[in-house]
Amino acid sequence: MILDMNDLFSNNNIRSAKSLSGDAAELIENLRKQLHEHNYNYYVLSQPAISDFEFDKLMQQLVELEKQHPEFYDPNSPTMRVGSDINKNFVQVRHRFPMLSLQNTYTEGEVTDFYNRVKRSLNEDFEIVCELKFDGTSISLVYENGRLAQAITRGDGRQGDDVTANVRTIRNIPLVLKGDDIPTYIEARGEILMPWNVFEELNKEREAQEEPLFANPRNAASGTLKMQDPKVVASRKLESYVYYILGESLPAQSHYENMLLARKWGLNVSNTIKRCKTREEVFEFLKYWDVERKKLSVATDGVVLKVDSLLQQRNLGSTSKFPRWAIAYKFNAEQALTRLESVSYQVGRTGAVTPVANLEPVLLSGTTVKRASLYNEDAINALDLHIGDLVYVEKGGEIIPKITGVDKEARFLIGDKVVFAKRCPDCATPLVRNEDEAVHYCPNSQGCPPQIKGRVEHFVTRKAMNITIGPETIGLLYEKGLIKDAADLYALQFEDLVNLERWAETSAKNLLASIEKSKSIPYERVLFALGIRFVGETVAQKLAQAFPSIHLLAQATLEQLTAVEEIGTRIAQSVRDFFENPEFMDFVNRLRAQGLQFELSEETMASRTDKLSGLTIVISGTFELHSRDEYKAMILRNGGKNSGSVSKNTHYILAGSNMGPAKLEKAEKLGVKIIDEAAFLEMIK
Ligand code: IVH
Repeated sequence: MILDMNDLFSNNNIRSAKSLSGDAAELIENLRKQLHEHNYNYYVLSQPAISDFEFDKLMQQLVELEKQHPEFYDPNSPTMRVGSDINKNFVQVRHRFPMLSLQNTYTEGEVTDFYNRVKRSLNEDFEIVCELKFDGTSISLVYENGRLAQAITRGDGRQGDDVTANVRTIRNIPLVLKGDDIPTYIEARGEILMPWNVFEELNKEREAQEEPLFANPRNAASGTLKMQDPKVVASRKLESYVYYILGESLPAQSHYENMLLARKWGLNVSNTIKRCKTREEVFEFLKYWDVERKKLSVATDGVVLKVDSLLQQRNLGSTSKFPRWAIAYKFNAEQALTRLESVSYQVGRTGAVTPVANLEPVLLSGTTVKRASLYNEDAINALDLHIGDLVYVEKGGEIIPKITGVDKEARFLIGDKVVFAKRCPDCATPLVRNEDEAVHYCPNSQGCPPQIKGRVEHFVTRKAMNITIGPETIGLLYEKGLIKDAADLYALQFEDLVNLERWAETSAKNLLASIEKSKSIPYERVLFALGIRFVGETVAQKLAQAFPSIHLLAQATLEQLTAVEEIGTRIAQSVRDFFENPEFMDFVNRLRAQGLQFELSEETMASRTDKLSGLTIVISGTFELHSRDEYKAMILRNGGKNSGSVSKNTHYILAGSNMGPAKLEKAEKLGVKIIDEAAFLEMIK
């Protein structure tokens, strides 16, 4: 330890720091050194030397001192870990060395081929370094004179986004390297990951907030890294693993030894890395980690094999995409074998019934799996499922695992065949399955509790009526007989709410205020809130543009509906079904009586044009004058079509700053015209 802790905590130090800025400089320097050291102990070695409380106290002191002495600002101070407030758009930066990817192999035979290829080319002995292939998002960390100067995403391999502010918040990435043998310039290449437990926690929170879930930790990590607010990034607890260093004068001529040095400098190099002399040792590594990786806290999807000697690496060279000195061996998708205990059914707001397998809990990719999706009747029949079967579960890209097979050999006493439910599990109404659909529906839309509650839950979501009420309260109000659909929300009285168990005056008032406020939500969102099957946000906007009042929409024929761009017969029929159902019409009428918006506002009407009619426009990058959503609405309002990806049908790309490099390349290749905000606004003026 550099400074006695008691000294640091004494007020004398702070006081003298205030008066003498020379002392302050030293103090700040000392605190930074200590905190860097503690961070390293905690996040890299997993061996904290002091308690969290003591750590926080040191950090607090440093924050205080830095506030008093802005002249000692340092972007690599440990205090920067908490994330600055600066809202930065990402700048594109060219990689000094390209970020190549790896050729994938899937079998031992292919690994042998690689081995033989290398042997033939080199015509001398070589060693192979085996490393786990971490399944996150790649990053290049540039250290100049031992200090983190820049962190760049892979991008298209030649240039990526500068995400330095976000990366500074990742605890096991050193801001300043340790030791005195550090080259003046190095790039540490590695992977940024979100550990399984953090990922699950995050998705739980998002579910509660009704935000879309991340499909896997990889998406969560890359999504987080691209966020605009480093404070949020800091809260997401990302981790890094460094797997390669680059630079003009590296300390060792062996990849393995460079990795050991990188670890000494404070970079997080996995201790699973192994240097192998023979092919047999390599295969042993593959076999061992195929099983053991399931116990790791982060996702891995294979092993990377690298020729150890840098000289040999140079001799082997690279193609335009891959190095010839390395390959990735990909594991088979992780599977687990467990027993099917029962099948239950979930009823959604549209009445769609989803079968769910209840499983004997089993560990898979670091999490315990108890349930798996069974999709529909056809999927169940294809598996020939019986209760008590041993089934294979796999986590694909989705969060909910799926059943991929049955171990029929293991059937001892065969259980009941799984037959799709005949009646709704909630209201016992016989289920229906339309001829050309795989989905079963419960037709009792007005009397089936999960459908009723589900519709109210949908009605209040942020993108619809934005009423602040959670599913539990909705359930409570429904059970107490206070609401039987969303229109009843508008009839709620203060007394109804305040008498509910555990309800205080403020919460009652807040809910009523939020309900009242929703009356000014524009027509297109009200249309979305109604919960008409297949009418999502964009379709609702289309319909609102084409039929500017609910009256016109309710009367629209199938032909008139399908005449609207992007409205097919499935959506059109669903709209007709909704308005032909007297109960839904009654619901709409009661909402109208409450004063909700059922017509396009005059302002929106007046701003409607067909200036962009027939044009498909892709939006890319970040903007200064309007938000992306606003631009999207403008395109639709002016008769244009907004699309998410560039294709030969794209007419324009409305590009903000730092448009994605992949999009740019595609646009150039297809000759799509790129316009900026000013040009777009001019077009619709
Ligand atoms: S070496 C030229 N080592 O896999 C060397 N990559 O498919 C290129 N990855 O973009 C990379 N773990 O993001 C290497 N131990 C490891 C890795 C690893 C994960 C990722 C990396 C790369 C991708 C290639």
